[in-house]
Amino acid sequence: MSIELLSDRICLITGSSRGIGLGVARVFAENGASVILHGRDENVLRQSLAELSEPQKQSYITADINTPEGAGVLARAFLRLHEKLDVLIHSAGILGPPMIPLAEYPAESWKDVLHLNLTAPFLVTQALLPALRKGDHPSVIFVSSGVGYKGRAGWGAYSVSKFGVEGLNQVWADELEAEGIRVNAVNPGGTRTQMRAAAYPQEDPTTLPTPEDIAPVFVWLARADTAVSGQSLEARDWVGRDPAI
Ligand SMILES: NC(=O)c1ccc[n+]([C@@H]2O[C@H](COP(=O)([O-])OP(=O)(O)OC[C@H]3O[C@@H](n4cnc5c(N)ncnc54)[C@H](OP(=O)(O)O)[C@@H]3O)[C@@H](O)[C@H]2O)c1
Repeated sequence: MSIELLSDRICLITGSSRGIGLGVARVFAENGASVILHGRDENVLRQSLAELSEPQKQSYITADINTPEGAGVLARAFLRLHEKLDVLIHSAGILGPPMIPLAEYPAESWKDVLHLNLTAPFLVTQALLPALRKGDHPSVIFVSSGVGYKGRAGWGAYSVSKFGVEGLNQVWADELEAEGIRVNAVNPGGTRTQMRAAAYPQEDPTTLPTPEDIAPVFVWLARADTAVSGQSLEARDWVGRDPAI
């Protein structure tokens, strides 16, 4: 992309040490953004950061957000780097045990999946609200899933958590509209990542779009001049589209 659509926008992407979060971070950095990567492993984050354009402009935060205090740790670390936040993307997520019927679903896994996929995005948004309020046309993006609109056998807590994310998106969007903070959700669709490979071990990953392929809708939502809020968008509809238009 030749025009820098996200010039100097400060963008925190949870779960961006790899997968969709990292792919979106790469495209954001190419578009002039200041990206803050996030994950749990400092070594992995350091390597991921080195892959971004203008690495001196980028940073990372380590925080396990699947703990009651994790959101606060992440928010405090962010505030040590920047006082305002323009774009917050919630990409951290876990699948949980794949293809286990609810009748046998382990309660501990239920708690973990619901916390990381649903409670953490709520707590992280809440903790970073003061920084978002100082942002320039701020944009919050939740990462949903097709099983967040239509339940499917074997998808257990993951599916339920993504139904919750759709609700969280709508409530935050309605509450923050008057303040000019836009809130939307994106369903990536099947994307070439570790999580997808764990869910579909028999699938040939080369048949799937890469995280960079599905990034255009994220770029469009992150732009300061995009106006939509309260929507749930399909990343697949945007593959190959120019987010400048
Ligand atoms: N891939 C798909 O086909 C697909 C389809 C629909 C929706 N999604 C959604 O897209 C999002 C990204 O998925 P992905 O496929 O990119 O998954 P992924 O490759 O497994 O990446 C998950 C990311 O979450 C981070 N993470 C996991 N546990 C964490 C914790 N406790 N604290 C902080 N960070 C944590 C991981 O970082 P560390 O492990 O380094 O900490 C990693 O950066 C998820 O919300 C997923 O539900 C994916």
